[in-house]
Amino acid sequence: MVDRAPIRPQDMLNHVLAISRAIAGQTEFQPVIQAVSREVAQILPHDHLDVCILVVDQDTVAAFETGLHTRWSAWHEHPVAARFSPIRSVLWGEVPYIVTEDALTDERFQFEGAFNHPIFDARLRSRLHVPLRVQGAIFGALSASTHAAGVYTHADVEAARHVADLLAPYFHALRIGEQVRRSAIIEAEARAREEGLRESAQKLTEALERERQRIGMDLHDETLAELTRLTRRIERLAERGTVPSAAVSALAGDLQASIRGLRRIIDDARPNVLQLFGFVDGIENLLERSVRDSGLAISTRVVDSTGGRIDRLGEPLKVALFRIVQEAVNNAVRHGRPEGIVVYLTRVGERIRIAVEDDGIGLGTAPGAAAGRRIGGINNMRTRARLVSADFRLEAGPSGGTRVVVELPATPVAAEA
Ligand SMILES: Nc1ncnc2c1ncn2[C@@H]1O[C@H](COP(=O)(O)OP(=O)(O)OP(=O)(O)O)[C@@H](O)[C@H]1O
Ligand SMILES: [Mg+2]
Repeated sequence: MVDRAPIRPQDMLNHVLAISRAIAGQTEFQPVIQAVSREVAQILPHDHLDVCILVVDQDTVAAFETGLHTRWSAWHEHPVAARFSPIRSVLWGEVPYIVTEDALTDERFQFEGAFNHPIFDARLRSRLHVPLRVQGAIFGALSASTHAAGVYTHADVEAARHVADLLAPYFHALRIGEQVRRSAIIEAEARAREEGLRESAQKLTEALERERQRIGMDLHDETLAELTRLTRRIERLAERGTVPSAAVSALAGDLQASIRGLRRIIDDARPNVLQLFGFVDGIENLLERSVRDSGLAISTRVVDSTGGRIDRLGEPLKVALFRIVQEAVNNAVRHGRPEGIVVYLTRVGERIRIAVEDDGIGLGTAPGAAAGRRIGGINNMRTRARLVSADFRLEAGPSGGTRVVVELPATPVAAEA
C-alpha cells in the first residue's frame, strides 16, 4: 500500500461539507455521483466512483458511475440480479467492506456468473467498497477504484465510510422517490389498459344495441308486414267459404298470436318510446306493457325527482339504464308476485340513483333462485352497469320484495363520457 499523508480532521470536515453542498438540489442518482466525485477525490482518490443501489422490492441492483464509463452503466437502465454483482457480499451484509490491492487477481470478484468484465475492461486494480445503510439496513454500496494497484489503506476505508454515511440518506430518498415514480407508471399503465377495455366493451355494446335495433326494424318492416298480409289472405279465404271456417279461424287465431309475440319482441328491440318521448315516459310505457302482457293485477308508478336529468345523459348510457330497468321490471313481474312496482329516479348528492322496487315474495324464496340456476338476466344487468361505470345492487326491498339499484355520477363529464 502506498503512503499518503493523513487528512487533518479540519480538512476532512471541510471536504465533507463541500460534498454535502455539492449534492444539494440534485434529484437523480447520476448527477449526484457526478457532482460529488471531485470533492470525494480530495479524501478518497479514485479513477472510478460508483454507487450500486438495490431496487426496492426486487432482488436487483442498479449502478451509477462516474470517472470512467463501463458496462456497469447499463445497470442503471436495466438492473441485474444482485447475485451477479461482484460485490454481492457487501450488498448482502456478509462482510463489512471490501478493500483489495488488485481486483484483477482478487478471487472474491470471480465467481460463476459474476458481472466483473468492467474490472478487466477498465483495468480497475485498487478497489474499495463500503455499504450504504439507512437505519441499519443495507440498500446499496459505494465503490472507489484506481488503475494503480495497492492504493487503498484502512484510513481510506474510514474515509469511504464517512462519505457513504453522508450520501446514504440522500440516495435512500432518491431510491424511494424512484420506487414511487415506478409504481405511479405501473398504475397509470394498468388504468390505461382498463380504460381501453372499458371503451372497447362500450363500443361493443353500442354495436350490439344498434344491431338489435336494426333487427327490430327489419322484423317490423318485413316479417311483421308479411305475416299481416298472410292473415288478410286467410281472412279472405274464410270469407269465400272454400275451406272449413273452424280450421281457418284456428289458423287466423294462431297467426294473430304470433303477430302479438313478434310485436312484443320488436317493441323490446327498439327502445322507441325512449327515443321519442324520453326516459320517464319510456319506463311508464314499459311498466304498462309488462303488466298488461302478464295478465296480473299489479299497480305501477314512476317517481322522478331528478327533473328529467337522465334525458340529458348520452344515448348509449340512457339505453343501458333503460335495459337494466327493463330486466328488473320483467323479473319483478315474472318472479316476484308483487302487488305493486315502483321505479324511483332520484339525485343523491352528485349522483343519480335508479331503483326498481317491488313488494313481492323477495329474492330468496323464488323457485329459480332456490334451485341455484344460472342467473342470466341479473348477470346482464350487472354487466351493463359495469360497462357504463355505474354501481349495481340487488337487495331486499324496503317493504319486503326486491330492489334493484343503479347509481352513477350525474356530472356531465363522468356520466356522458
Ligand atoms: N324481483 C324478483 N323477485 C323475486 N325473485 C326474483 C326477482 N328477480 C329475480 N328473481 C330470482 O332470481 C332468479 C334469477 O333472475 P334472472 O333475471 O337472472 O334470471 P331469470 O329471470 O330466471 O331468467 P332470464 O335469463 O330470462 O332473465 C330468478 O329466476 C328468480 O328466481
Ligand atoms: Mg330475468
